[in-house]
Amino acid sequence: MIIEALPAAAGGMAASAAEAVPAVEVLSAHKTYPNGTVALQPVDLTVREGEFVTLLGPSGCGKSTLLKMIAGLLEPSDGRLLLWRKPVQALQEAQRKLAFVFQSPTLMPWASVATNVRLPLDLAGITGAEADARVSNALALVGLGKFAGQLPRALSGGMQMRVSIARSLVVQPDLLLMDEPFGALDEITRHKLDAELLQLWQQQKLTVIFVTHSIHEAVFLSTRVVMMAARPGRIVDEVIIDEPYPRTPDFMVTPRFAQYAKQLQDSLLRVSEEADT
Ligand SMILES: Nc1ncnc2c1ncn2[C@@H]1O[C@H](COP(=O)(O)OP(=O)(O)OP(=O)(O)O)[C@@H](O)[C@H]1O
Ligand SMILES: [Mg+2]
Repeated sequence: MIIEALPAAAGGMAASAAEAVPAVEVLSAHKTYPNGTVALQPVDLTVREGEFVTLLGPSGCGKSTLLKMIAGLLEPSDGRLLLWRKPVQALQEAQRKLAFVFQSPTLMPWASVATNVRLPLDLAGITGAEADARVSNALALVGLGKFAGQLPRALSGGMQMRVSIARSLVVQPDLLLMDEPFGALDEITRHKLDAELLQLWQQQKLTVIFVTHSIHEAVFLSTRVVMMAARPGRIVDEVIIDEPYPRTPDFMVTPRFAQYAKQLQDSLLRVSEEADT
């Protein structure tokens, strides 16, 4: 396993990232589904405040299972999950300060962009001027201020995904959990949203745990990439992407980018071959 010290430059944020408090602690958490599928062997993972950690691994290695357990959407069979040192299951939903972004934007087709973004606030009982301000702020953050009154079908796939991200930001989360959020988009749109996401991460001082199948996306975005293997699902490797932010598309054509991508590709091939043998 490759574990290096988190470099001070990583995150382009606090030079003290290495000392930052743990935002997420997964302590020997594992999951066997009721049908007997062992989705995850006991997993240990600490994500510090301000990190951008990506989970990478073959299909079925338990990435979504792990993310849902961190969100408190799924109970582990055993083990513990802490958010800012408190057990996730003990926190009320409003106290969790996290948002989950799925691959599909899952917008209500009959409702305007603003109404879609407002939904989590309606559910939390936040109304009036406070809700209005949060919705406009979130839409402005994703560059959709002018589209508040439109229906989702009037927007492109990339714009719909931005609405979904605005809907997640409206609860002012500290932790953003994203399960292949841009997997269904074309490459150019994906690059654009990746760059925007990094800006949001820095501006809003978020902690992000991101799932993707794209090695390049993982290298471009992350302070750290966690490699998982399947059957049974587990964490097998970890690579620190020791590169400063802001990262521009130029980073993607550097030899260092290619080295990181190769390292992850080799690791992914290894775990895929192990699973086939
Ligand atoms: N509700 C469920 N009931 C039974 N088995 C499940 C359930 N959800 C997932 N699994 C199984 O658990 C394992 C891990 O699934 P999971 O969806 O977490 O993987 P993943 O890494 O997110 O895969 P993908 O990259 O395809 O999204 C797989 O073998 C899957 O078939
Ligand atoms: Mg998944």
